[in-house]
Amino acid sequence: MTGAGHETSTGQALSGAGWLDVHFEACRPEYEEMLRFVGVPPGSRALDAGCGSGGYLTQLSDLVGASGSVHALDLAPENIALVEERRASGELPRLAEARVGTLTELPYPDDSFDVLWCANTTQYLDDAEFENALAEFQRVTRPGGVVAVKDVDVMLARLYPADPFLFPHLCEASLWADPDDAQSRGSLRGRELRRWLERSGLHEVRQRTTMIERWAPLQPVERRFFADWLSHLAGLAEERGVPEADLATWRSLRDPDSPDHPLDRLDSYACEAQVVAVGSVPKRTGVVES
Ligand SMILES: C[S@@+](CC[C@H](N)C(=O)[O-])C[C@H]1O[C@@H](n2cnc3c(N)ncnc32)[C@H](O)[C@@H]1O
Repeated sequence: MTGAGHETSTGQALSGAGWLDVHFEACRPEYEEMLRFVGVPPGSRALDAGCGSGGYLTQLSDLVGASGSVHALDLAPENIALVEERRASGELPRLAEARVGTLTELPYPDDSFDVLWCANTTQYLDDAEFENALAEFQRVTRPGGVVAVKDVDVMLARLYPADPFLFPHLCEASLWADPDDAQSRGSLRGRELRRWLERSGLHEVRQRTTMIERWAPLQPVERRFFADWLSHLAGLAEERGVPEADLATWRSLRDPDSPDHPLDRLDSYACEAQVVAVGSVPKRTGVVES
């Protein structure tokens, strides 16, 4: 892990490889189903924009098959270095290239890809940046190709036993504390994704929300993921001024390895929710067909 917020050298929280690998493993069945929902045709040239440590690259490689190729991009150089290591070890035979770059200025020519997949990365963008990114996604994906955006909707998260308003209170306190904090807003955008994609000009947009629900006894990787995530949120709760009544719960979640951790109760339940929205790139206006 790279620190309490699991950040990378870019300073972004929850973007370090150790954290991402645990998160992906804990949610793997639902996460893989979300990419299957996109429909990646064999033979596609696919971009994983915001690839992190490469959790999705193996499945993307399998989906595009021997006649396709996968490209990977991320803002954090250390994540790209890790993906390069995995390629060098022969783990990712379809990976054509991995690059450092940003969603808002993609380093690829127009119409480079058949499929663009962007998972849990647009949450770091403010609204104007997200709009730019969606325009970039369409520019680098060919007409008729597919753009898919997946992200969290933190308002659907739940911990039991705990006040059902624990997460909504934190969301609200975060926005009161800093209305311009991009990730606080971005983590609320999940269920809006379909409308964002439609407004950006994508066609035939569809959306699916997935609840990743885990009941006690949690598997070790599930416990690690939820305990680390809740510990990070507990730090934010202290900083951002949640209601006094919630603080006792957040404090009980601060130490992920506590022997009295609420996740270890026999009746515990934890849930995070993720949304994927998929659209197709329309024909370019002003392009004359021969
Ligand atoms: C939460 S991780 C998700 C990683 C991976 N897509 C997954 O689902 O496991 C977000 C990733 O996006 C990257 N990132 C954040 N802002 C970015 C930007 N503007 N352009 C490209 N990558 C970005 C971070 O470095 C991090 O690796």
